[in-house]
Amino acid sequence: MSSKGVTPTKTPIITRPSQIVTIDRYILDQEQSHPGASGDLSGLLYDIALTGKMIAREVRKAGLVDILGQTGTINVQGEEVQKLDDYAHECFIKNFDHSGRLCVMASEEEEEPIPIPDKFECGNYVLLFDPLDGSSNIDANVSIGSIFSIYRRITEGGGGGTLEDLLRKGSEQVAAGYVLYGSSTMLVYTTGRGQVDGFTLDPSIGEFLLSHADITIPDKGKIYSCNEGYRNLLFDGTRRFLEHLQEVDKDSGRPYSARYIGSMVADVHRTLLYGGIFMYPGTEKAPGGKLRLLYEANPMAMLIEQAGGLASTGKEPILELQATELHQRVPLFMGSKQDVELAIEFEGGAR
Ligand code: AHG
Ligand code: MN
Ligand code: MN
Repeated sequence: MSSKGVTPTKTPIITRPSQIVTIDRYILDQEQSHPGASGDLSGLLYDIALTGKMIAREVRKAGLVDILGQTGTINVQGEEVQKLDDYAHECFIKNFDHSGRLCVMASEEEEEPIPIPDKFECGNYVLLFDPLDGSSNIDANVSIGSIFSIYRRITEGGGGGTLEDLLRKGSEQVAAGYVLYGSSTMLVYTTGRGQVDGFTLDPSIGEFLLSHADITIPDKGKIYSCNEGYRNLLFDGTRRFLEHLQEVDKDSGRPYSARYIGSMVADVHRTLLYGGIFMYPGTEKAPGGKLRLLYEANPMAMLIEQAGGLASTGKEPILELQATELHQRVPLFMGSKQDVELAIEFEGGAR
């Protein structure tokens, strides 16, 4: 207990860099440590940072719709006011379709793969994204985010990519990350090699600065995060797991605290920093749960596992699933290794 009678919160495991490092500088340094790198992946990451800044700018104005104009109406400048999810979706496409680095894209907001227009060159990479995650939270001024996942193409020939390039295993991702529009805007990404880094946008200079170097998720946490409103719809094993976390047992750090924002990006971000488990399980009615494999579960699973955690459907590793449909859903348990291992035991799965 501290002198104020409050148990101090454990400091998250992050390294605070002592020098100012912009994301551009960081990406360049990483590229130089890879002899032979073409620079294409670096270019894609620069464009993610730009897209994140552009979406953040609009998110910051979201509360002003009553003054500037409702969505779908004409605002005071005579421009049509777009819905934020539409803006974010188009922003990704406009920033990436002419990059010359991608051969095909896919978005949560579009049923079919998004081709690269004929007038632009195609490249060797594939991008999948959830342009605005947690969009039901926008009007309540609650944190939202964007999620991205990058693969190298598998089709040959240099032209446009196909569905085959998009339907992949998460373990094949070459980079993944998210931008969180929270009390500050943060970009967190990984290109593998056990490294996950976080950058915070300094709005006064418009730059993402390295703020959370080499994020490591605690091996065990004390928070669980799930929509417990669906408790009575859950499978027995999942319900028993929740009950287990709620039991009182000081030695094993129970009961856990519950935290659920309802924006995956925000819930996973907290889980990365503080540890614990985030879950969106399947139910009798919806065995696949709600979240989408390719642009929600896979990129977050890559981040969590590169930071030392675990991501599972409860039965098998998320990153080993071969996607069969662009918008397929998947039950999800991710977070601290020990917490997810325990969830897997209750779910009756194997690691
Ligand atoms: P999106 O806004 O991209 O459709 O995603 C919403 C998702 C995710 O952010 C969150 O974890 C989940 O929906 C919340 O769902 P419930 O309201 O069912 O808890
Ligand atoms: Mn989403
Ligand atoms: Mn979305």
